[in-house]
Amino acid sequence: MQAVTILSVLLCATCHIAFAFTDGLLRNGNFEIGPKPSDMKGTEVLRHDAIPEWEISGFVEYIKSGQKQGDMLLVVPEGAFAVRLGNEASIKQRVNVMKGMYYSITFSAARTCAQEEWLNVTVAPDSGVLPMQTLYSSNGWDSYAWAFQADLEWIEIIIHNPGVEEDPACGPLIDSIAMRALYPPRPTNKNLLKNGDFEEGPYVFPNTSWGVLIPPNIEDDHSPLPGWMVESLKAVKYIDSDHFSVPQGKRAVELVAGKESAIAQVVRTIIGKTYDLSFAVGDASNSCEGSMIVEAFAGKDTIKIPYESKGKGGYKRAVLRFVAVSTRTRIMFLSTFYTMRSDDFASLCGPVLDDVKLLSVRKPRRLM
Ligand SMILES: *[C@@H]1O[C@H](CO)[C@@H](O)[C@H](O)[C@H]1NC(C)=O
Ligand SMILES: *[C@@H]1O[C@H](CO)[C@@H](O)[C@H](O)[C@H]1NC(C)=O
Repeated sequence: MQAVTILSVLLCATCHIAFAFTDGLLRNGNFEIGPKPSDMKGTEVLRHDAIPEWEISGFVEYIKSGQKQGDMLLVVPEGAFAVRLGNEASIKQRVNVMKGMYYSITFSAARTCAQEEWLNVTVAPDSGVLPMQTLYSSNGWDSYAWAFQADLEWIEIIIHNPGVEEDPACGPLIDSIAMRALYPPRPTNKNLLKNGDFEEGPYVFPNTSWGVLIPPNIEDDHSPLPGWMVESLKAVKYIDSDHFSVPQGKRAVELVAGKESAIAQVVRTIIGKTYDLSFAVGDASNSCEGSMIVEAFAGKDTIKIPYESKGKGGYKRAVLRFVAVSTRTRIMFLSTFYTMRSDDFASLCGPVLDDVKLLSVRKPRRLM
């Protein structure tokens, strides 16, 4: 009897793990498996279940790389196919997950018309509207991250174009939808900040070289970059050492939108205590050249760190020493200037921030 119970517990444990999602692309997440020709009219997908593993609604097109739209040649970042969401169109997939776990979704999207476009990402009861009006990479494609906490053992991911353009051929292209479980880090006695090295974050596509945008967290409480909030209007870019130069470890952030994109964390502090906020400022080796300045804030204290970038990688370290005046101190970083890449003059770029540490200083020297 006992043996049977143990066996069934073991079986259940393995079946649970086997069914829960493992990091990477969703099923047919790059849309390489397409609808049958009989389920299409031109590029339009006619049936809600025509694209394997997906459920669609509204005007959805199945796009082959190299297809022309007016003068524009449509290219696809992953494989040969992508989908386009027309006005009010959406795609949906059900995924088995671990209840209570945090996940981050990463997907690539491209605007096709000059108008402002948005995508509404939903995992009930959360949803976030991600703006696509600013182009960060010159080929038109960018990857975006959005995070949620799983309320159930399965979830439905819905990506919806809330747009109402006159031209039905407008509407973003979408490709490569992936997901990664997040393990929100805690502050330690080596760092009072959470995830100060940015090693924990969204899925990064091994085959794309433009990083992942962490959109401004206007709508959602759960950050795809655990511990950190992206404040103000624009995104920050999450970069990895496979495609960029990063000061420490495998991951870092690039402050790509000047004063319009700030990254922040609120940390517990003891009034009257002295702290050192140390960090690394560098460049991602992505032809982002020129005089850069990173501004660091700790409550009302601030420091400006200049960095001369040759666009070939490198970094320097800096420290902001401050005395806490509150039990909660806001740590924040931003880039003073906008910078454009020297190789295309079209992509926004900026200084890299990494290895952020906050520690209290045990015996600050006092002049009495
Ligand atoms: C986004 O989608 C969710 C779920 O469908 C909806 O509740 C929310 O109102 C939408 N947001 C916008 C701005 O369309
Ligand atoms: C990356 O590209 C390689 C070769 O083109 C392909 O085999 C692989 O599946 C791609 N990886 C992902 C995660 O799509």
